Amino acid sequence: MSELMVITCGENARLNETLRFALEGIAYEKIPFRDALSNLNGARVLFALALSEHGLDADVAVLIAWLRANPYGMEGATGAILIDSAGELYTKQTANMLALAANLAGCRFPGKPLVEATLSLDNWRVQALRRGVTPEEAYRRSARELVSRLASFQPKLVEKPNVLLLHASDQSTSNTLQIGKAIAGKLLPYCDVREISLQNGAIFDCRGCSYKTCAHFARQNSCFYGGVITNDVYPAINECDALLLLCPNYNDSASANILAFINRLTSVLVYKSLYEKSLFSVVVSGYSGSDIIAQQVLGALCLNKTFMLPPRFCLMQTANNPGEAMRAPGMQERIDEFAKQMLLAMRGQ
Ligand SMILES: Cc1cc2nc3c(=O)[nH]c(=O)nc-3n(C[C@H](O)[C@H](O)[C@H](O)COP(=O)(O)O)c2cc1C
Repeated sequence: MSELMVITCGENARLNETLRFALEGIAYEKIPFRDALSNLNGARVLFALALSEHGLDADVAVLIAWLRANPYGMEGATGAILIDSAGELYTKQTANMLALAANLAGCRFPGKPLVEATLSLDNWRVQALRRGVTPEEAYRRSARELVSRLASFQPKLVEKPNVLLLHASDQSTSNTLQIGKAIAGKLLPYCDVREISLQNGAIFDCRGCSYKTCAHFARQNSCFYGGVITNDVYPAINECDALLLLCPNYNDSASANILAFINRLTSVLVYKSLYEKSLFSVVVSGYSGSDIIAQQVLGALCLNKTFMLPPRFCLMQTANNPGEAMRAPGMQERIDEFAKQMLLAMRGQ
């Protein structure tokens, strides 16, 4: 197991104390981020950020900008993120931005690679109750679990991966679906690909049942609402090694059906985890903002819902009129490269 690199960006007393607790017994090197940037290839990196009340700290901006400017700066690296803030806001936004920048620079993330603490630690109240400890203790223990997940993480390789192509797009006009299908075509000789369209049936968003009710339905691999999500999507998610999620930009967000799918995954997670499954995505925007959608998808499904994030998990493109994306200069080459990276991440070759 390689030594952990703890890359610091800002400092506060609670973060230092949490790091001491989380790293006890682990071999690590603690380095201020400016001294570490050119040594990240192949490293196991814990980003440890102390955030000010207002977020957007100059040092955090320098770190993220460096990653965006160096598309091979974290080749072969594995990452996790610990954020301790002097305020109640901006921890998730910072994590989403940092995770996407690092991922596009080549960094993979295990499932649930973020531990964050807001000033009040109110974000630990539910976990504290579940564990029967104080919020401070829940935070420290989760930080230690994060370090252990990062230190031991090995991507799961499968010779013939089972890939679920999931979308809610129109078969005849969608740019996003045309790219998704072209990628699937490249995977076919090496993978079993199953396509599910969420357009085939009415999709209800999560009803927000109590934990007890959700668990009751989850025991039967079901959910309060039935339909395509429980009949087709839950079994397909349980069987797949990788999800290829197609996300057109609708009002600077993933579309309602895709979000309903993500929300309804809560039931799957009551009894199972998704740590061994990889997340890939295609995002198409008519005008701009694909980065926001990519952050939304990785935030919800990797940082929150435990999918692992392989390097460069998302292909992003701007296209509006039907067919425009596939006619964009260099698109065939980008599809070839994306499929090659997917196969490498899933099969190791
Ligand atoms: C309801 C709706 C909202 C949209 N909002 C945006 C938007 O906020 N920003 C943007 O760049 N494109 C927006 N678009 C354009 C789509 O992103 C664009 O058509 C793109 O090709 C992806 O959709 P497709 O896969 O159906 O082709 C919107 C399209 C629809 C139908």
